[in-house]
This record gives sequence, C-alpha cells and structure tokens, in this order.
Amino acid sequence: MPDKAGLTLEWKRMKRGLAMASEIDLKRIRAETPGLKNGVHLMASGAALMPQCVVDAVVKHIHLEAEIGGYEAADQQAGPLGQVYNSVARHIGAKRHEIALMEDATHAWCNIFYALPLKPGARIVTCEAEYAANYVAFLQRAKRDDLRIDVVPSDASGALDVASLEARMGEDVGLIALTWVPTNGGLVNPAAEVGRIARKHAVPYLLDACQALGQMRIDVTELGCDFLSATGRKFMRGPRGTGFLYVREAWLDAFEPLMIDLFSAPWVATDRYALRRDARRFETWENAYALRAGLGAAFDYADAIGIGAIEARVKALAAQCRGLLSENHKIRLHDIGTDQCGIISFSADTVEADEIVQKMAAAGFVLGTSTPASTRIDAERRNLPTVVRMAPHYYNSEDEIKACVRQLFRLI
Ligand SMILES: Cc1ncc(COP(=O)(O)O)c(C=O)c1O
Repeated sequence: MPDKAGLTLEWKRMKRGLAMASEIDLKRIRAETPGLKNGVHLMASGAALMPQCVVDAVVKHIHLEAEIGGYEAADQQAGPLGQVYNSVARHIGAKRHEIALMEDATHAWCNIFYALPLKPGARIVTCEAEYAANYVAFLQRAKRDDLRIDVVPSDASGALDVASLEARMGEDVGLIALTWVPTNGGLVNPAAEVGRIARKHAVPYLLDACQALGQMRIDVTELGCDFLSATGRKFMRGPRGTGFLYVREAWLDAFEPLMIDLFSAPWVATDRYALRRDARRFETWENAYALRAGLGAAFDYADAIGIGAIEARVKALAAQCRGLLSENHKIRLHDIGTDQCGIISFSADTVEADEIVQKMAAAGFVLGTSTPASTRIDAERRNLPTVVRMAPHYYNSEDEIKACVRQLFRLI
C-alpha cells in the first residue's frame, strides 16, 4: 500500500496525465484516421490504424516510382528519405548515425543478437515475459554456441525482479536481453533500472521496445540500453513492413554484422571490404522506400501530437477498459505489474478467447488474442489460457470503449 506521500504523488501524476491527455485534439485526430469509420479498432498492439498522412506518404512515393522509375524516385527524394533517420533518432533521443532502418523488429533484434560475440558458457540473462521470437533465438544460439539462458524471476507485481537481476550478475553474463512491454498484456518491465545494472557491470543490453514505441516516451540515454529494436506498425502507426534498430555509438565498430553486402560494406579492393561506420552497416542495399517515407511520416505525426500527451491518454483509456471489465465477475483480467500500459489482457469464464474475438469482429469491434506460445515462460508460470488482447490508442474515444465492453458483456 503506498503511504500518504506516495498517494499524493500518484494523485499529482494522474492529474498531470489527465491534463496532458486533454491536450489531444481528438476530433482532428479522428478525422485524420480513415480506418475509424469502419468500426471500433482496439488492436494497436497488433497493427494500429495509420493516419492519413502516413498513407499519403507511402502512396505518393509509389506513384513517383511508377512515374519516373524506382531508382530515380529514390534519388529525387533522397533528402526527405534521409530525414527519416533524423525523425527516428529524435524520437528516442539517439543520434542519426545510431539508427538503421529495418523491415520489422525481429530483423532489427536478430541483427544484433546473432552478431554479438558471446563466449562458450556465457549467460544470456532475460525476463519471464520475453517474446517468443527472441526466446527461440536464445535456444538456437544456446545450442549452437554453448550458451546458457538465465531467466530472472519476477517480483510480486509480476515485473522483472531488479534485486534478483543484480544478485545474479557475474563475470559469465554475456548479454542482458529484455522485453520492455510484453506482447501479452499491460506489464511494463523496469527497463531503465535494468539499464543501470547493465552499465554498472559493463554488460551489453539489448532492449525489445516493440510494444513500447509510440505509446510511451523512449529515451535511450535514460534507458541505458546499448541496442534497441522496434517495429513501425504497432503503436507508432506506421505501415506494415517497417522497423528500426538503434546501436549505441560506442558499439558501432565493436563487431561485424552477420551478413554484409555492397551497401553495408563496400568492396574497396579486390581482397578487401570496408564496413560502414554508422548503424546502417546492418542494412542492405535494397529497400522499400515508400514504406520508409510512411514510417518517417508516422514518427513526425506522433511527435507533432507529443508523446507525453499520447502516453497519458493511452494510459487513461487502458485504465477505463480495466475498470469497466472488472465490473463483470465472469472476466479475469490478466495484467500484471504496477506501471501498466495500453495493452489489456483478459479471459472470460464462459467463452474462449478466439470465439470472443470472432464474435466481437462480427459486431464491429476489432480485438486480438495472445497465445501462451507467444510468451511461454510467463504463460506457463501463471497458467494463462489464450487471452483476449485489447489495445486502445489515443485516437479511440471513451464512448467506443464503453460500447465495446457493453457488447462483450452481452456475449459472455
Ligand atoms: C514484444 C514484441 N517483440 C517483438 C515483436 C516482433 O515484431 P515484428 O513482428 O515487427 O518483427 C513483437 C510482435 O508482436 C512483440 O510483441
């Protein structure tokens, strides 16, 4: 239980959050989101609805490619396309040369994970809520390179236990790899506290910020991470097929990418290549420039609204969802952690998650599911079924949420 001072602080934070959330011009934002006219979309954790400016940026570049040719379009738009790196860097407090653009978060993450030198016997330290794609890569490298996977237990709230992490640090820890916000619910792991431990013990720290990007503020200096991966299509509202990788400057020259080509490592003499000095050494030559233009537009759109206001509104809407859902005794809310974000996970005693999603879709409400195989350690520890995932974004209205919960209660 927080004490009086704690409660006052909480109250002040909430008031600040509400004030910031109300800075959002919901009417304008909704008018700029064409997908909202087709129903109630509560799936920002899957792929959020793109704003019109993102669609326009993609389509405009595709038209230009059709009109003057793909290479010519990239040349003509080299300036604005180059600005996308600045937009990504600015949003996360990084430098432009620390950013590589990718087709998704998994490629970004794997580019580091598979290339990072780890000695046989080294430990990969991770959390219970780690994402499946990352964990299967741990298993593969563990088998191939004789590594060990060390899962830090969660604390009473369900978040990674920072004290336990600190206690298991040692010479043999080769990497800390953490999922900040898991795919299966509202948990926000203590990414910055983990960063302080990584710094203290000089252990490389790879942060999966896939579900955090676009719903909460990201500052790589505060987080203390060395590498960060994220996707464009979720809370950032970018097009599908986009993502990025952040590589802290100090690591840029430290190891070679697993795969190189003539872009990442120009062939400078018959017997020699010269790796690029920036994070784009993890990219290859060919790219979806239209999607990149859309990704840049998504970052600029989010920054024009303000990530503080976005975060406050997403949290307020999520709190509304959880409050309403908790009024029905047939609903089991599965969100853990003290600092909860915009992903709400629940199951119903009477109807399976897949059936709920199907029936809700037929009624015009888009929800999703998360299966135990997406976060197996956490799901098995908590004996979770496939859960319904509801993820409102700042463009959703309070009325949409009420209508969705009303419809859900009719079904169960
Ligand atoms: C926590 C987390 N990490 C990584 C990913 C993978 O992202 P992508 O599909 O863009 O590779 C996801 C996708 O759902 C995710 O939820």
